[in-house]
Amino acid sequence: MTEWIEKIEKADSPAKIEEIRVGVFGKKGVLAKAFSEMKNAANEDKAKIAKELNEQKAKLNTLLNEKKIILETAALQEAMKAEGIDVSLFAPRSEAGGTHPVMDTMDRVIEYFSNLNFSVETGPMVEDDFHNFEALNLPKYHPARDMQDTFYFKDEALLRTHTSPVQIRTMLNTKPPIRMIAPGSVFRRDFDITHTPMFHQIEGLLVDDKGKVSFANLKFILEGFLHHMFGDVEVRFRPSFFPFTEPSAEVDISCIFCKGEGCRICSKTGWLEVLGCGIVDPNVFDAVGYKDVSGYAFGLGIERFAMLIHQIPDLRSLFEGDMRLLEQF
Ligand code: DAH
Repeated sequence: MTEWIEKIEKADSPAKIEEIRVGVFGKKGVLAKAFSEMKNAANEDKAKIAKELNEQKAKLNTLLNEKKIILETAALQEAMKAEGIDVSLFAPRSEAGGTHPVMDTMDRVIEYFSNLNFSVETGPMVEDDFHNFEALNLPKYHPARDMQDTFYFKDEALLRTHTSPVQIRTMLNTKPPIRMIAPGSVFRRDFDITHTPMFHQIEGLLVDDKGKVSFANLKFILEGFLHHMFGDVEVRFRPSFFPFTEPSAEVDISCIFCKGEGCRICSKTGWLEVLGCGIVDPNVFDAVGYKDVSGYAFGLGIERFAMLIHQIPDLRSLFEGDMRLLEQF
């Protein structure tokens, strides 16, 4: 009896307890043996022996159950300690993705014009000659086509060289008045420090009744936009040429690097060219069958904006997917 009590005390796992329980209560256990030996005892002693054995049986049972609970609780606590989470520990930095600087710049432009009620339109990247050139007042063999080096497929299909064809598609699909921007990828045969064969533009077009839209309106909206993108800069409009606008202008901001003093990035001019714009040429309205309307249009390259905003020297690096560069944004 004392021997078994000691064993229970020393047991160090629930499995050990079960082992002891079999040794005591099992068919071949000590109790079964003791009860069977009772038949050899003198008759007058039998009742006493039986009583004693039953008391021992009850006591061992209680001890086993108690010890089992203690051991199981300890085992559970160990397991919880091992599997638990310490929320006060520092977690390693997780590798979450981020918005690419080009898309981030695009989002900022879209947000600005969306707030002014411009709708966001899209068009196909594989265009035809009519939408990409003809309707934009760029007839076949017109020398202005040389301004853009085009990727051609067979049968007049081409990769759009600018987002301007979305102007044409939108005008053909809806009626004036129109206030739209068209963000998207465009393609040209060009590859150097400031050109990649694929890049992004945002086109803008506003059309309303004849006489309602002036160059002053265009100037006002673009000045607000450029101040939003570049902060406190000077904005100047320089006469230029685009086939789809007349008059046309190129827009410069005072150099954000040298504040107009003249540096390497602005080629010592103090100015950075950032977009093209103008009053929609009547030939464009003729091509889509619009009568008695007036409008303005503008177009800009997103990568150029991103490069200036983030001071990225080589445009090509934006498309190399090098994490060392991208992680900086
Ligand atoms: N499509 C021109 C380009 O790719 C950009 C542009 C200039 C768009 C003037 C316009 C505009 O709508 O009026 O270089």
